[in-house]
This record gives sequence, C-alpha cells and structure tokens, in this order.
Amino acid sequence: MKAACINSFGNENVFEIIDNHPVPEPKEDEILIKVSSSSINPVDYKHRMGNHKYILGSPFPIVLGYDVAGIVEKTGSNALDFKPGDRVFGRLNRKYGGALAEYAAASESCFAKLNKNIPLNEAAAYPLAALTALQALRDKGKITAGMQVLITGATGGVGHFAVQIAKLYGAHVTAVCGAGHETILETLQPNEIIRYTESNYINQLKTYDIIFDCAGKLSYRKTQKLINKGGSYISTLPRMPILYHKPLAWLAGKKVKTLLMKPERSDLELVNNWIMDKKLFVYIDQTFPLDAVAEAHAYAQSGMTEGKIVIDVIKSSPN
Ligand SMILES: NC(=O)c1ccc[n+]([C@@H]2O[C@H](COP(=O)([O-])OP(=O)(O)OC[C@H]3O[C@@H](n4cnc5c(N)ncnc54)[C@H](OP(=O)(O)O)[C@@H]3O)[C@@H](O)[C@H]2O)c1
Repeated sequence: MKAACINSFGNENVFEIIDNHPVPEPKEDEILIKVSSSSINPVDYKHRMGNHKYILGSPFPIVLGYDVAGIVEKTGSNALDFKPGDRVFGRLNRKYGGALAEYAAASESCFAKLNKNIPLNEAAAYPLAALTALQALRDKGKITAGMQVLITGATGGVGHFAVQIAKLYGAHVTAVCGAGHETILETLQPNEIIRYTESNYINQLKTYDIIFDCAGKLSYRKTQKLINKGGSYISTLPRMPILYHKPLAWLAGKKVKTLLMKPERSDLELVNNWIMDKKLFVYIDQTFPLDAVAEAHAYAQSGMTEGKIVIDVIKSSPN
C-alpha cells in the first residue's frame, strides 16, 4: 500500500512516500480501516523528531499519524462492533499511530461510527484534539455552567475545540491567543479575547475557575493567584514543576492537573452528535495530499496555523 514512512528521526525531510508498504493485519480486537484522511497533532512531529524514542523505540520504517477517518475494510476475530463498509473515525492506539497510509489498524475500542453527513475528509480533524479538550474541561476541570474559563492557545487545534466545548457547557470563556486570527475568532465567538502579544497581557487577566493551558505557555506559578478557590489549572504538557505544585495548590484549595487524552469511543460518539447538531465544528486551516506530508508537517510545526491541518490520503492515492 501507499504510505508516508520515516526511516530515521529528524526534520520533515525524513518522510518517504512508498507504494509497497505492507498492509497491517488487524489483531483479534482490531479493525482495519481504508484511510480517507488523517490530521496532524504536535505529538506527530515530536515523534518524527525522535522525542519519544526512548519510550517507544525505533521500529523503522515507522508510519506516523494518530487521527484517522475512513471505511472499515476488515475486522479481527474478536472485533464485533463494526462491519466492513462502516464509516468510522478515531484515534489509533498503535505505538506511533499509522494513519499516514492507505490502510491502518487499531483496537476497535478507539473508533466510533461516523454519521453519513459528516465528510470523511473533515472527520479526521476531530479525534485527538477534540477529545483532549473535552476530557480536560469535563473530567479534569469538572466544568459547569457559569464557570469562568481561561483557554490559552485558543485558536490552535485543541484550543479551538476547547472554546466551543466550554461554551457548550455554559461557561464564560476568555480566549488567549496571539495577534490576528480574526476569522477563526469570529466563528468561535469567545466571550473575551486577550492577546498574549500585548505587553501588559498578564495584567488583563481576571480570576478563573478553570485555566486550561492548551498552549503550555502559562504556568501554574504565574497564574495561581488568578485561580478561584476550588478551581483548577490544567495543562496539556506533563511536566515535573506541575507535579511539584500539586501539594501547594491543594493547601490553597486549588487543583493542578495534567492530562493524557484517552481514545474513548463514548467521547467520539458525543463529538459525532455535537457535529450533527451543529454544536461543534472544526476550523480547517489547510488540507494537504499524502504526497505533501513533509510540507504539511513543516507548516503544522511553524506555529502559524489555526485550527487543524488535514492530510487527504485518498486524494493522493494512485487509485
Ligand atoms: N496531553 C495530551 O494528551 C495532549 C493532547 C493534545 C495536545 N497536547 C499538547 O498540547 C499542545 C497544543 O496542542 P494543539 O494541537 O492545540 O497545538 P497547535 O494546534 O499547534 O496550537 C498551539 C497554539 O498555541 C498558541 N501559542 C503559541 N505561543 C503561545 C503563547 N505564548 N501563549 C498562548 N498561546 C500560544 C498558538 O497560537 P498563536 O498564533 O495564538 O500563538 C497555537 O494556536 C501541544 O504541546 C500538544 O503536544 C497534549
């Protein structure tokens, strides 16, 4: 099958597009998907650079990409929830993913059925980022209506979903972002916008029940006085200083939390329903064909993007 492989860790030029990569065989609990699209998350380029090689190893050739949408091709002997032909989306749970290819396999538990009205070339933009936003706000932040929520990286992949989800829960949302971003902010409609590019931006912050640091740029140390009693600071980046702050925060009646997104089917189903009800949308910055994956990674890593970058796998397929 056609696949974007890497045979060493490094910059975006390590990608090689090959036509004879073996189609993965689904294990008992797995399904095999004919991939329509994938999307890029920062973890993909961190993997590409070898940041996690001491944990995940170097099983070259590696096919990256966690987010996927496509059609079920084949099911493992114990994978009973789907049948060939089902439209699905999900976040692959194999080591490095494997979505940047014509076929990908993973446990059936990390997929959900996708409504026929949701385009396959958009659906792959949701799983990892939308579930991160949902699990951070609902499970870590215990978000409820009327809460004051601050979201950094608010126009990025996770952040733009977080703004929408926090508003869905009835929170008052303050979005922190850089200069520009007018179009995406117009569609997201946060209650307040604060530009971190302005010199006095920390002074513009008020107090919050949840500070969701999607961008990983606003530490608990800097913001602890801005968190209401009983409130939470949540970071997408597990870091030692955060663990260090936990007991101090607890003494002050506040919580410091990190999260590791889990590919839960029930959450994907919720996202599917929100999309159908027009309560959640993805802002797609650009779509690249699989052949241009190196360019897509470079762009995603540039820090210039808004919302999500999609890889259209079908478009670049020979068939
Ligand atoms: N733990 C988990 O399970 C998990 C899951 C998903 C993601 N993550 C991590 O979460 C982070 C964000 O992921 P993402 O997909 O949203 O990435 P992304 O799409 O690249 O977005 C990052 C955002 O950060 C903003 N930003 C940059 N510098 C900033 C600053 N100083 N203050 C505030 N915002 C700033 C950028 O927008 P501007 O143009 O406004 O600067 C950008 O929108 C990544 O580090 C990723 O690895 C962790």
